[in-house]
Amino acid sequence: MNILILGSGGREHALAWAVLQNPKCDRLIVAPGNAGIAQIADCASLDVNNPAAVCEFCAEESIDFIIVGPEAPLAAGVVDMLTDAGFLTFGPSKAAAELEASKTFTKQICDASGAPTAAWARFSEAAPAKDYIHQQGAPIVVKADGLAAGKGVVVAMDEAEALSAIDDMFGGTFGAAGAEVVIEEFMDGEEASFFILSDGENVLPIGTAQDHKRAYDGDEGPNTGGMGAYSPAPVLTEALQEKALAEIIRPTVAEMAKRGTPYAGVLYAGLMIKDGQPRLVEYNVRFGDPECQVLMMRLGGQALDLMLACAEGRLSQAQVNWADDHALTVVMAAEGYPGSYEKGSVIKGLEASPETSSQMVFHAGTTAQKGAITATGGRVLNVTARGASLQEARDQAYAMAEQIDWPEGFYRKDIGWRAL
Ligand code: AMP
Ligand code: GLY
Repeated sequence: MNILILGSGGREHALAWAVLQNPKCDRLIVAPGNAGIAQIADCASLDVNNPAAVCEFCAEESIDFIIVGPEAPLAAGVVDMLTDAGFLTFGPSKAAAELEASKTFTKQICDASGAPTAAWARFSEAAPAKDYIHQQGAPIVVKADGLAAGKGVVVAMDEAEALSAIDDMFGGTFGAAGAEVVIEEFMDGEEASFFILSDGENVLPIGTAQDHKRAYDGDEGPNTGGMGAYSPAPVLTEALQEKALAEIIRPTVAEMAKRGTPYAGVLYAGLMIKDGQPRLVEYNVRFGDPECQVLMMRLGGQALDLMLACAEGRLSQAQVNWADDHALTVVMAAEGYPGSYEKGSVIKGLEASPETSSQMVFHAGTTAQKGAITATGGRVLNVTARGASLQEARDQAYAMAEQIDWPEGFYRKDIGWRAL
């Protein structure tokens, strides 16, 4: 079959790499892709947030299956238009993508389905929001309601920080995303991510992971999109996964179906675990980046079969063939990230990187220029390895990272510390 993947990050490189291992894939196009993806698949320039343009492209290229990577095309309704046009697509509808696009929506779904989550209140004006903060006290969490590229959450350790977050959000720092603000109880515990496929009715867990959000070693420094990840997450035991499925995931999927907006695609549940109880922090309606890289490293070619089963509504018959393995990815980022950083520095030594079924350097922000690979983004490479133990995967990934000659880049040296 002819397959199109939408996106251009390390997540999409990992998806492409996994899909290509499945003999069902005859031709793979990734739009827009990056320099690493171009080494394994065709890349096409296409405005992935324009549903009509995506539909036209799929017709021209006789695409049989579309996999949507990032949230923006989902929120733009790309899946709705593709589905209406008869294309088989992996990803939720625009209405179902509200589970990531609106914090209020997710909280309402939790309330309606009884899923355990932080107590919350919603505000559209600063004064009552501030009163609520005084009343509740700190620590407390302030969130812009809409999509804010992962930056719309302030975990305030004191009241002053919470109040200034309110001023920022209603002051327009996050544009329309901050017109409504959700204030939440601070949840203590250990965070982990749980990935589930849903075809609208059935659910299938496909792995757990933990990422490292802070820029520097020891979980210090500013928040980022993620500086590394590993799978599985030991904190999410089988028993806790069952509990999360029973109390959070299945009730959510049932509530979405009941409302006439069934959720189909991958559901990424951010969970907070304390005293053997999982609570929902947030949903994302896509694979995590870099969590996808470790999930794909472990799933390999079967990822395509699972996504097809999901899109075709056959998940009740699908199963994951688990290997007893571990994967870990180290993100190499441009010096300065997540603040401002230079673009255009040359990355050397990549040709020496092994490319096997258990070792791969996935590209995120890269371009090929005159035969050289240059850095064009904040997060640039995801050095990923799989092993019989987490330690083995980690040693392998760091050995690979050391081979990469990129003085303008940096990476954390302690990915996986919590689990080891
Ligand atoms: P979100 O965008 O909702 O995932 O929030 C980003 C991060 O903020 C999460 O991954 C958590 O680390 C933290 N966070 C969000 N909500 C809460 C909460 N209610 N209590 C504690 N930490 C939270
Ligand atoms: N790594 C976090 C995310 O993809 O949202």
